[in-house]
Amino acid sequence: MKRLTTLLLLTLAAALFSCGAPTPESSPPKPADELQLTKKLALRGLAWVDTSLRRTLEITGEKFPISTEDGVWELGHDGWTGGYYAGMLWMMYQHTGKKFWREKAEKYTWLLERHKDDADNSDICILSWPSFDLGYTLTGDEALRQVGLTAARTMMRRYIPSGGYFQNWGRLGDREQLGFVIIDCLINLDHMFWAAEQTGDSSFAQAASSHAHRSRAAHVRDDFSSYQVVELNPQTGEMIRGFGKQGLGDETTWSRGQAWGIYGFTRAYRNTGDPAFLETAKKMSDWFLEHLPGDQVPYWDFDLPPGEDHPRDSSAGSMAAAGMLELAGLLDDPAEAKHYREAAGKILASLTVNYLTRGLPGAPQGVLTGGTYFFAVGGSIDQANIWGDFYYLEALLRWLEPGFWLEGRS
Ligand code: GLY
Repeated sequence: MKRLTTLLLLTLAAALFSCGAPTPESSPPKPADELQLTKKLALRGLAWVDTSLRRTLEITGEKFPISTEDGVWELGHDGWTGGYYAGMLWMMYQHTGKKFWREKAEKYTWLLERHKDDADNSDICILSWPSFDLGYTLTGDEALRQVGLTAARTMMRRYIPSGGYFQNWGRLGDREQLGFVIIDCLINLDHMFWAAEQTGDSSFAQAASSHAHRSRAAHVRDDFSSYQVVELNPQTGEMIRGFGKQGLGDETTWSRGQAWGIYGFTRAYRNTGDPAFLETAKKMSDWFLEHLPGDQVPYWDFDLPPGEDHPRDSSAGSMAAAGMLELAGLLDDPAEAKHYREAAGKILASLTVNYLTRGLPGAPQGVLTGGTYFFAVGGSIDQANIWGDFYYLEALLRWLEPGFWLEGRS
């Protein structure tokens, strides 16, 4: 019953957001000064991704893994997270070239096709980008490209020109929810930049760039911490207020929100070349790193009372590490690039030494434990989740192969 209630609450949360770590090999977690990512350790992490993903494939059928409860995947019909499953399979194909991974990736990508015309779904970009766009880049299959472009045109219907941002919550045009924007939705912009590049139609990129500027002006506080949610004036795009949802409070910093910002503004810089996004990505990364606990994996909110052992959010750690590795690849100054690469390496080392599900009692599913989906509703706390696993795989591949780009080009 508790599982059912939790599932219901998470389903509600997913509709709204559309969008203590066990230590398998040591206890307590190893602190940063004992951690260094080596090729051997990274390959150990990658081998565990391979094993764990094959195990997950045995049980998913036509469904998608979302997050675990008591070490067991909650399976669903894709929600906001389905693209991550397909994306992990595509990354494994990109890394290994094996037909096995391509066939699985194609299967779970095509299961997402039904979203392409749904303008009431604000998550069609993050469903489409790691699946159809990445799949097209790796295979050249025109049918995949066409679905991705259809989804991008559908998403353009959610763009509010007067405000300069995409409607995040609610059905298309829902007047009650028109002004709310979450930092998580920066992740949708990649798909729009991809559509602009594919079609030569700059309106996709202009809308994405404008959304990123609105988000930067509103979500990012003066000290480069962040709000998860802001309310904007749909007529002008100006900020009315900032507040929290999945974090501890309105003025705290939800760790995954900060990670969405690091990853999202790094990608916005990559796609636009606008130095304002680069500066924001660097400063948000610095803030994140300065506030990490000793083992380099954040608690689920950065403003939890000190001196207590709170649950972590390993997915915020893997997402931030993936973002910082991309950031390092975009920086001209070798010393700065080294700084972010090493910082990301420490997070990845801790995730690999302290947070893999490998060897834990009960053989929990998923790659990383220690993720927290939504603390306030009791949803998937200190568990695995598919986005945390996705960013862990992405970050490992970026670290191991500095030329590795998710888009398949370097
Ligand atoms: N709202 C998406 C997330 O939980 O990060």
